[in-house]
Formats: sequence, C-alpha cells, structure tokens
Amino acid sequence: MTKLNENSKCARHVAIIMDGNGRWAQSKGKHRVLGHKHGVKSLRKAIVFASEQNIEALTLFAFSSENWQRPEQEVNMLMALFFTVLTSEVKKLHKNNIKLQVIGDLSGFSERLQKKIIEAEITTRNNSGLVVNVAANYGGRWDITQATKKLATLVAAGKLKVEDINEQLLNDVISLAGLPPVDLMIRTGGDQRISNFILWQLAYAEFYFTDVLWPDFDGCEFQQALDVFSSKERRFGKTGAQLS
Ligand code: IPE
Ligand code: IPE
Ligand code: MG
Repeated sequence: MTKLNENSKCARHVAIIMDGNGRWAQSKGKHRVLGHKHGVKSLRKAIVFASEQNIEALTLFAFSSENWQRPEQEVNMLMALFFTVLTSEVKKLHKNNIKLQVIGDLSGFSERLQKKIIEAEITTRNNSGLVVNVAANYGGRWDITQATKKLATLVAAGKLKVEDINEQLLNDVISLAGLPPVDLMIRTGGDQRISNFILWQLAYAEFYFTDVLWPDFDGCEFQQALDVFSSKERRFGKTGAQLS
C-alpha cells in the first residue's frame, strides 16, 4: 500500500504551541482553569486527526519551563490535570498504536507524576503508529544545554574527541532524536513567537500562526494549516529554479 506521506508536500512531523486556553475561558466570563480543561478536548482531536492523516510525529507544547511563574493555584491545577489525563488516556492511545513520549526536565515534577509519565512511556513504547511528544517543563534553551552536557560528559570520559563534535551528534542527544525533522510549527492564540519551544529543532520548519484559541482548534483548523504548508516552496537554501 502506498503511504499518503510519500508525497514530500505532506508534513511528517508537526509541532504545536497550544496557546490561548486562559483567554478562551476569560472571554466567556469563566476561570482560566476551564480553558485548560477544554484544551484537553482539542488535544484529543489533534491526536486523532494527526493519526488519521498518517502524520508520523506530533509534538505538543503543554507546559514551559517558564510556566512555573504562573499563580500557584493555576500551576497546581495544571499538574493535577496532567496526572488525570495521563491516567485516563493512556489505554486509548495504546489501543490506537500511538507511542507517547514526554520531553522536558521531568525532575521538576512530583515523584507521583514522574512515575505516571514513565509508566505511560513504557506501556506505549513498542507502538508503531503516531509518535506523540508532550513537551512538559520544557524549554528550548534547557534542551540545548542538556544535549551539550551529554556531549561534554563523553569528552570528559575520553569517549569523544572535541573535533568530532558536529551537528549530527548534537541532533542525536537532543529531544526528538530519531524522529523526522519538524516540518510545520503551528501556534494558536494569535501571538507570533516561539516562547522557548524547540529552538534547535525548528531550524527549517514552516510556521503557521492562527488567532484561533486552542480550545477552538479542531480538525478543520488543522487541515487549513496543512493546506498552507503544502502550498509552500521549501527551498532549504537553494534557489527556486534548482528545485524544478
Ligand atoms: C496555553 O494557554 C496553556 C499553557 C501555557 C499551559 P494559556 O494558559 O497560555 O492561555 P492564554 O495565552 O493565557 O490565553
Ligand atoms: C507557551 O505559551 C507555552 C505553552 C503553550 C505551553 P505561553 O502562554 O506560556 O507563552 P507566552 O508567555 O505568552 O510567551
Ligand atoms: Mg498563553
């Protein structure tokens, strides 16, 4: 069977900054927390859609290393929600052959939550369908730093020469190693910034920004982003003429 994504205009790896939950709730006169709860529904829809579209990897920004600075009550609620969602969704993901991975500094989470994350990863690790990466306590600068430390440790142990360090080696130790490069980065919520998301991995991604708030994002919106993506000429430094 021919795979849909053999066409190079199809995105193999999509990353999303799921932004706008708080404003969505506030616009309805509700507490921000309600926005996060509705955001989980959009997350489910995005995973189903990506799976149906034969996208290989979906990387979702759920909680940044800077989000700890939010009011304590909101942070606590987000941690509780993360735990609940992991508990309720893993079986379904596993049944649908989806592999779940969490990227970020897990040591920032409670022991209980860390255990839950590891269990979810172990349950789904042999699945061969869509890979869903949830970025939690994640920062792009942290990621580059931790990757650099790994290489420095190899050098200190005499297992790697400084002159042998290259982009490929750093790629091998940074988050999302082994997955196709990120083709498309979507940000909902109207802001056009990266907010310390996957800085290294976005080097040649196409960016799609939409004013739609995350709880309103659905398959239709996702399709629109993919349509815009497939209309782009990705030149990777070459001239347009070289491509045709
Ligand atoms: C994104 O929505 C979810 C997280 C950062 C956890 P926000 O909570 O940032 O929503 P806005 O941007 O304040 O509307
Ligand atoms: C980025 O959203 C992080 C997530 C979506 C998890 P923020 O709402 O935290 O980003 P800023 O603070 O507006 O840049
Ligand atoms: Mg926000």
